[in-house]
Amino acid sequence: MSAPPKDNSEGHTYGVVYANDSARAALAGRTTFPAGSVIVREKLSAPDAATPQLLAVMFKRAPGFNPKGGDWEFLTVDGSLKKITARQKKGSCLGCHSRQSERDFVFTLPPVSPAPGGLRIAPAKVRL
Ligand code: HEC
Repeated sequence: MSAPPKDNSEGHTYGVVYANDSARAALAGRTTFPAGSVIVREKLSAPDAATPQLLAVMFKRAPGFNPKGGDWEFLTVDGSLKKITARQKKGSCLGCHSRQSERDFVFTLPPVSPAPGGLRIAPAKVRL
């Protein structure tokens, strides 16, 4: 797993956050996320970078999947969007996102508008 850079204490770098329909509804209402919610945080090296360095993904699994982590699975996908490079239930991702445990482990996001084209991860490329 490639840990976020050490100087990245405020979270991630540039990039867009994508949410599927379930996650978007929960974000709008700041409710608990239903199983099946997917949030993707793109990491770009620069604001105008053409391809991401990697994607950081939170996938809400079924109740009981990860009781201490809000049933979230944390994944990273490589910049070519072809390979899952890490998947964890605890560890560095949860370690930091636990700060937001009272908000279902999700940090405050700016208002979410429907992403054109929706999630960029094509299911054919990567199976989460
Ligand atoms: C050092 C703290 C820290 C670590 C470690 C960390 N994150 Fe985050 N993450 C943040 C912060 C802060 C935000 C919100 C600001 C932003 O997007 O940069 C965020 C945002 C996100 C989001 C968008 C949803 C949200 O919570 O706002 C996802 C998805 C995400 N992170 C996944 C991951 C994954 C997967 C890992 C592990 C590979 C990880 N994060 C590790 C701090 C962290």
